[in-house]
Amino acid sequence: MTMPDTIETAAKHIREGRLVAFPTETVYGLGANALDPFAVARIFELKERPTFDPLIVHIADTAGLETLALNPDARVYRLAERFWPGPLTIVLPKRDTVPDLVTAGLPTVGLRIPAHDIALELIRASRCPIAAPSANPFGRISPTTAGHVQKHLPGVDCVLDGGKTTVGIESTIIDLTERGFRILRHGVVTKEEIESILPWDPGDGENAPFAPGMLQSHYSPGKKMWIAHDAAFPYIHKEKAGLISFSGALEAGYKRVIRVSESRDPREYAVHLFDAMHALEDDNAIELIVAEPVPETGIGRAIMDRLRKATFHWQKDLG
Ligand code: TXA
Ligand code: MG
Repeated sequence: MTMPDTIETAAKHIREGRLVAFPTETVYGLGANALDPFAVARIFELKERPTFDPLIVHIADTAGLETLALNPDARVYRLAERFWPGPLTIVLPKRDTVPDLVTAGLPTVGLRIPAHDIALELIRASRCPIAAPSANPFGRISPTTAGHVQKHLPGVDCVLDGGKTTVGIESTIIDLTERGFRILRHGVVTKEEIESILPWDPGDGENAPFAPGMLQSHYSPGKKMWIAHDAAFPYIHKEKAGLISFSGALEAGYKRVIRVSESRDPREYAVHLFDAMHALEDDNAIELIVAEPVPETGIGRAIMDRLRKATFHWQKDLG
């Protein structure tokens, strides 16, 4: 089957209210027609996702902005011009066209234009905006390949395979519903880059981030996971552990090492992080997973956010 046929088939699924997993530049999404509450309900069902957790709506161009958001202002267009298509989700007051189930009853909607040809072609061929969370069961590791989607969500109607995603972690989420801006989730579009576009009014900054569904635990592998150098770290049996290595400095003694960067570039860490977590989760010789921390600036904030959420379950075992 050629690619356009595949997309046409997937678009038919979307138009008829079924679900399609598709690649974006960040992670694979589990998509449904965002304007069809029955289709959207199937996303929550298949993911076992609580309905208090709103979905991001994916659009193909800024025309979608006007039909879904209420009076987007200059800040939105400045960000869109710089970062769209790309890994930035903008939360704005919503229009009534967006079903309440999509936004978990919130008066706002998160919108993004993904930087991926398959995603954009799917949205255009479906002729509707596509609501899509990451295509993983609730709380588990986000998928960066079609194989990851099939492993955890075998029930999905259709999976478009675009190979491994190029960004590797979920989009940065920025809330513009009030004055200034608030970053609700860190990603590869950094606070520093956003401040260079919206420099005149940082608003409340990160002081009171609120995104329903932003739980302390998330992205968890089905095995114990720690951040190297955490309090419990000295007691870890390295001979049973897999290391997600960034600098190369901690690799001695581990059963298995996955190096996520050749050049100590946090962007590469982002690209390979979830992939490494999936590989160690699937490796029967590995009992626990250790990840190397990075400095918390720029993209490092997004990496550390994902590591803390993935290891949160096990913090309570510290004793
Ligand atoms: O990169 C991404 O953003 C990927 C790809 C598929 O686009 N999607 C993704 O979706 O990560 P998901 O559902 O796993 O995470 C989206 C998060 C939700 O947990 C929710 O907290 C936040 O976005 N969100 C969505 N709409 C929101 C809104 N109106 N207000 C506040 N937060 C919102
Ligand atoms: Mg997710």
